[in-house]
Amino acid sequence: MKPTNSSLHLIAVACAALSLTAGLRAADTPAAPAPAAADAKKLTFTADIKPILEKNCYVCHGGDDYAKAQGKAAGSMSKSKLTLDTYENALKGGRSNKPGFVPGKAADSEIIHRIALAPDDKQIMPPKGKPAPSAADIKLITDWVNSGAAK
Ligand code: HEC
Repeated sequence: MKPTNSSLHLIAVACAALSLTAGLRAADTPAAPAPAAADAKKLTFTADIKPILEKNCYVCHGGDDYAKAQGKAAGSMSKSKLTLDTYENALKGGRSNKPGFVPGKAADSEIIHRIALAPDDKQIMPPKGKPAPSAADIKLITDWVNSGAAK
């Protein structure tokens, strides 16, 4: 078939798209070490995980010191006896006696289990309608646990 104007146009667009993709790839190459460097950075409870918990969980799991600092009654921020104020308490977990975090094992960590449930699951943490960690935050917490849950 003799190329028509419109098929020539399509070819031109395809070529432009291809060279654009190639250009983007080339542009990506020098930046490649950046994600590797981020991976190499060791995640820690204090620097990376606690701020996420503080933002999304402390109104109910901040513990007594946190409650006091907020002018709230002792016990009001220890729902299910789970307090996430310290590394040790977060690992220990709450009333169910299931450990909150098991270093190296996200799959055995009750906190990961509860935050990663489907949004309409009755057991999801935080409870429906409350500010919740983003998917990126949940991935970060999971990566932190699997990398050994450094303090
Ligand atoms: C609005 C209050 C509220 C917020 C916010 C909240 N929780 Fe909870 N959480 C509860 C209550 C109430 C329970 C007890 C009932 C239950 O287990 O569902 C509970 C129970 C839990 C348990 C089970 C503890 C056990 O072993 O008995 C985990 C784990 C948990 N929450 C994690 C979290 C995490 C992590 C966050 C933040 C991402 C969070 N929760 C935010 C109210 C809250």
